[in-house]
Amino acid sequence: MILVGPPGAGKGTQAARLVDTFRIPHISSGDMLRAAVKEGTELGKAADGFMKAGKLVPDDVVIGMILERIARPDAAGGFMLDGFPRTAPQAEALDRALQQAGVGLDAVVLIEVPDELIIERVTGRRNDPVTGAIYHVTYNPPPADVAARVVQRKDDTHEACTERLDKYHRETEPIIPFYQQQGLLKRVDGVGSLDEVSQRVVDVLR
Ligand code: AP5
Repeated sequence: MILVGPPGAGKGTQAARLVDTFRIPHISSGDMLRAAVKEGTELGKAADGFMKAGKLVPDDVVIGMILERIARPDAAGGFMLDGFPRTAPQAEALDRALQQAGVGLDAVVLIEVPDELIIERVTGRRNDPVTGAIYHVTYNPPPADVAARVVQRKDDTHEACTERLDKYHRETEPIIPFYQQQGLLKRVDGVGSLDEVSQRVVDVLR
């Protein structure tokens, strides 16, 4: 399955919960790129500048990274993609790779949140570098023993978020009809408590 939606829609938050429900790996292109940046690999060096500015990392870099990841043994029983595909060439490359592997998609879950709520969600996000947990200063505050170590992502500034939202509307939204035509698209209202949104996601998947 694929999780799609604007920056800050709650894809990573919901994916962490779905992993427990469906027992399949959560494959986040953003998390993989951030890990590469942290480790200082060639991939990370190539991606860093694009990410900080809220721009998309070039397709050839991201496509290879994800196709290699979904071919690993732990993805053989299913997987949950988060943040990929987000351009037409990425969607086409995934489609070709899945056809070659004889694998079909079960669902593409679109988490919808209006633009006016996105900036607040993104600029208030905090991440736990130890566990990877996602928090929000208002909507999901970290517990007291974690609060001192949470960090803010470099691209969670007002400026970079505006750019990311623009990229989402221009490059990612146009791929949604491709999945709708195949009958795979499940729309979920992403406004509500974390638990309410989780329930809606599970309902459309079951
Ligand atoms: P990526 O990491 O994929 O970022 P994104 O798509 O912009 O998504 P986010 O991680 O910002 O948001 P999310 O939907 O996961 O929301 P979250 O659950 O954290 O990509 C980052 C960058 O990497 C890109 O800009 C690009 O440069 C590069 N990149 C990645 N993939 C790429 C690709 N395929 N091609 C090219 N480049 C690529 O929630 C957000 C906040 O809201 C949190 O604080 C959370 O606590 C809070 N929240 C969640 N749900 C709720 C709720 N129901 N109510 C209130 N608050 C909530």
